[in-house]
Amino acid sequence: MFIHTAAFEKSSSKVKECPDTTLPEFAFIGRSNVGKSSLINMLMQRKDLAKTSGAPGKTRLINHFKVNESWYLVDLPGYGYAKVSKTDRASFMKMIYDYFEQRENMVNAFVLIDSRHAPLKSDLEFMIWLGEHGIPFSIIMTKLDKLSSSDLKKNKDVYHKKMLLEWDSLPPFFYTSASSRLGREETLQYIEHCMKVYEDAQKE
Ligand code: GTP
Ligand code: MG
Repeated sequence: MFIHTAAFEKSSSKVKECPDTTLPEFAFIGRSNVGKSSLINMLMQRKDLAKTSGAPGKTRLINHFKVNESWYLVDLPGYGYAKVSKTDRASFMKMIYDYFEQRENMVNAFVLIDSRHAPLKSDLEFMIWLGEHGIPFSIIMTKLDKLSSSDLKKNKDVYHKKMLLEWDSLPPFFYTSASSRLGREETLQYIEHCMKVYEDAQKE
């Protein structure tokens, strides 16, 4: 997919304040500091479209970015990071759960996972919550530039095995690096595919 335009539209603290639209949207979710905002910038080939930071808890609101005048990317606050205050964590969780429960044009959630770490309870539990609520999701492994290929293979296997203890089949997986742009085409192609399915369903 070619990105012609990508523009910040608005930040919302509640789902009710989000853009009033039926255009399809794709959400980026995961632990604080996993690289959600960096990945959005990488996909859009824009340096500072979404605000990033080395300190977890940078993204504090629901941020909508309109792409090619035809769909949205949504940057969400992160969950489950010990260094984020309890009050912030609770407010981020409410925003996240309300968003996924209420946002009708949300087509696919990308759950971001740091490829360097063993499977974390907070991530696995969040995916189960998505599953229980019938919310389609896929997984994006991030920061591949920080991992050797043998460690990546090992971590991939561990992750797949761990997920198959809970799930009958695996969701789509994408392997990315915001610094090397690895996985950009694959992720954008998948977005294009999901949009086609969404548009066909609207016609029926
Ligand atoms: P919150 O908004 O705080 O929830 O974090 P986030 O998930 O949006 O993470 P963000 O994109 O702000 O990135 C966090 C840190 O990880 C920053 O210092 C980024 O530069 C770094 N980072 C993100 N993606 C990559 C990557 O692919 N490779 C490397 N080496 N660093 C990355
Ligand atoms: Mg962020």
